[in-house]
Amino acid sequence: MNTTIQKTVENKPALKYQLKNFEKVPIKLWETPNEGAKHIAEYIALTIRKKQQDGEYAVLGLATGSSPIKVYNELVRMHQEEGLSFSNVVTFNLDEYFPMNPDSLQSYVRFMNEYLFSHVDIKPENINIPKGDISIDDVGDFCEKYEKKIESLGGLDIQILGIGRTGHIGFNEPGAWLSSKTRLVKLDHITRVDAVKDFGSEDNVPYRAITMGIDTIMKAKQIFIMAWGNHKADIVREAIEGNITEIVPATYLQQHSNVKFYLDEAAASSLTKVKTPWLAGICNWDEKLIAKAVIWLSLKIKKPILKLLDEDYISNGLSELIAEYNSAYSLNIKIFNKLQHSITGWPGGKPNADDTKRPERASPAKKRVIIFSPHPDDDVISMGGTFLRLVEQGHDVHVAYQVSGNIAVHDVDAWRYAAFMKDYAKAMGLEIPALDEILGKVNKFIARKKSEDRDIKELRLIKGIIREEEARSGAMFCGLKEKNIHFLKMPFYETGGARKNALSQADYDIIVDLLNTIKPHQVYAAGDLADPHGTHRVCLDAIFKAFEQTKNEKWSKDCYLWLYRGAWHEWPIDEIEMAVPLSPDELLKKRRAIFMHQSQKDSPVFPGDDKREFWQRAEDRNKETANSYNTLGLAEYEAMEAFVRWKF
Ligand code: F6R
Repeated sequence: MNTTIQKTVENKPALKYQLKNFEKVPIKLWETPNEGAKHIAEYIALTIRKKQQDGEYAVLGLATGSSPIKVYNELVRMHQEEGLSFSNVVTFNLDEYFPMNPDSLQSYVRFMNEYLFSHVDIKPENINIPKGDISIDDVGDFCEKYEKKIESLGGLDIQILGIGRTGHIGFNEPGAWLSSKTRLVKLDHITRVDAVKDFGSEDNVPYRAITMGIDTIMKAKQIFIMAWGNHKADIVREAIEGNITEIVPATYLQQHSNVKFYLDEAAASSLTKVKTPWLAGICNWDEKLIAKAVIWLSLKIKKPILKLLDEDYISNGLSELIAEYNSAYSLNIKIFNKLQHSITGWPGGKPNADDTKRPERASPAKKRVIIFSPHPDDDVISMGGTFLRLVEQGHDVHVAYQVSGNIAVHDVDAWRYAAFMKDYAKAMGLEIPALDEILGKVNKFIARKKSEDRDIKELRLIKGIIREEEARSGAMFCGLKEKNIHFLKMPFYETGGARKNALSQADYDIIVDLLNTIKPHQVYAAGDLADPHGTHRVCLDAIFKAFEQTKNEKWSKDCYLWLYRGAWHEWPIDEIEMAVPLSPDELLKKRRAIFMHQSQKDSPVFPGDDKREFWQRAEDRNKETANSYNTLGLAEYEAMEAFVRWKF
């Protein structure tokens, strides 16, 4: 125990918080998923090579899903560039949907071939994946043999895992028992909802799967479990800090002697050590952490910052802070002012005002601004109010839609537009046989479409145009001229399916060109790492890369990059650097801009796990931010949009 602290808080209840370790299993934090994945791939490669030297097989337990993709990318790179051979590797995949045809887009056989097996020299007979295309009567026998085969090879040397939002590992959903083996299981509702991104609609997602059991997994000699992104933060905390329970099957891993959780900062953000480190041990207090602690305390006990007392700090594990500042008074004022300075009705900077404490610079009074919107509606959903203000305040605002969003339109909507085109041409007496032929082809495709089919390009084009026109209406509603609206159609997105290609220079070039043409003073981008289908994250990476490639340009040195969050999540209050208040009228206007996106209304193709419509989520979120500011003792606004400035 640190003696200084003991002295200052003698006999105070806060002592119980000091130096408590909340984690029940080893974790490793990485700045980016890339680094963590690379480390796992290196460990796997080391094991493969060592086993090669000893003339043995390396037996790997593999997972699918988004979490391990970067591990596979790195293994493929090692094979291609460093001669890593998979000739002595035997693999066992965790699971497969049931029923599932191995050729289907959603099959894990196809996934593994696409990301790993087709690119390395593994022997086909050494690949084992639960079979989704056998008769239900044969499943029991198959599972028994799967278990025996793993055992006969001496067990799994390494098992890699992701974690589902239900806490599942493999498809061992809540309720799975510790001694479970490979078997047929029912999928949890949340897991099925999460799978909609791959299957197009919930109706197409299978209800069952074959999965290795908890016991099968626990017998692996070494386990790496990965989680990347905010959307995993809460379940990660339960898995790492919670008690062992069948309700969160990943907690069973706490009993394994050689397991490690690999997390990026976003996935670790709910861990006590990260979220409220003062409850976990002695802290190195810097400006950021102090703000985090004071805001946390004020919101926790629902008392405005300026009214917080020494005893509030001391009885909530923050006596260290009082010891450093002598009293709550100066601490309260410091953080209150910081928050006060984050509020501005002038997101582009207030002309002729003292800007030393404002989030944006006063000059130039009229700025060139680019709002990057990953999908065609994120601009208005996430920063519609700020968008409107920037235009009203006379800035030269451009909006750039990064991807077409063409997979997120219902077939019936595309069909209706196709019928409209045909009827209109007919009513005008225009004979366009080629158009008739194309629309006939589209309609025939829609009528016969199966869940595993990718849209034909003619249909994709209709869907893309629907979204483009909706985005144009939304941006024009916000006051933009057509020439300031840009559709980037980044190539990485255009696969026609939920799985996208990797970013390439062709994607960066498009953004670099736009930046160099507009030479913006301000750029807004989606800093939302929790987007369920990952496009936001990829779009942001492309913007970062483009900034890197333009860092020597004059405009770039003078450009502020502001990050907003997508529809799913808001910045924590202590991280917000610019909060733009919205009046009730502005909020209503923002809602109307969102309404322009008709194909995304009522029940969008990719709703995520939130049943509210996008405009409702946006309003609730903006109101919640305003409420928090109010609870902290700042002015009461109707709603607020929030931004963080990215510093390179
Ligand atoms: C996949 C599997 C699942 C996933 C989990 C996380 O083979 O067994 O447990 O690992 O659902 O999925 P992602 O990585 O897509 O978030």
